[in-house]
Amino acid sequence: MKKDNAMKHGLILGAFCLGFGLLIALTDMVTAKEIAARAMEDKINSLSQVLPAELQDNNPIKDAITLKGEHDMETTVYRAMKDGKVTGLAYEIRGSGYAGEIKLMMGIAADGKLLGVRVLAHKETPGLGDKIEVKKGDWILRFTGLSLGNPPIEKWKVKKDGGQFDQFAGATITPRGVVKAIREGMEFFAANQAKMTEVN
Ligand SMILES: Cc1cc2nc3c(=O)[nH]c(=O)nc-3n(C[C@H](O)[C@H](O)[C@H](O)COP(=O)(O)O)c2cc1C
Repeated sequence: MKKDNAMKHGLILGAFCLGFGLLIALTDMVTAKEIAARAMEDKINSLSQVLPAELQDNNPIKDAITLKGEHDMETTVYRAMKDGKVTGLAYEIRGSGYAGEIKLMMGIAADGKLLGVRVLAHKETPGLGDKIEVKKGDWILRFTGLSLGNPPIEKWKVKKDGGQFDQFAGATITPRGVVKAIREGMEFFAANQAKMTEVN
């Protein structure tokens, strides 16, 4: 009798474990799908801000290529094309801020002029370093139209370091990190221009 009871309890416990296990696995799958969908939405949104619609008759995500970037890291380069020619490129760049890494999306025309830069993620301080966000100010919009030679390379710094870009009051580290990331992003373009713009 005791043995039967133990068996029954064991079976009930086993069934519960299996049920909950399945439930957790299912929730995990749904969440992972939602996260991926949200990440894709964010990507499309940031791409649309740095690759103007008039420069493309393609889908830059479908025509993306992968290149080796800094520290041998794979970089996905989204390519805007019109009439079969590459007109613009966009890729993620990373800077070092006050509170950690700053991720940005940079758009650059085939001639090397910046089409735009937008912050994707950062941990900078609200009211100080977060002025790099487009919704907090126009600072990040000032890079549009500039290139490696305009201003000259030695001016690609914040004013405090002898460059041309404003720092923020009481917050120099964040803008310094972003200016450096953008300069490096343009150097990445300069080093890979042929690969980025060739169409097979
Ligand atoms: C709590 C706290 C948060 C800060 N957050 C930032 C920040 O997000 N970005 C930044 O550049 N500086 C931040 N700073 C200021 C930096 O420590 C540093 O003093 C400043 O960037 C240097 O700029 P300055 O030379 O213009 O003073 C913060 C300082 C404190 C005390």
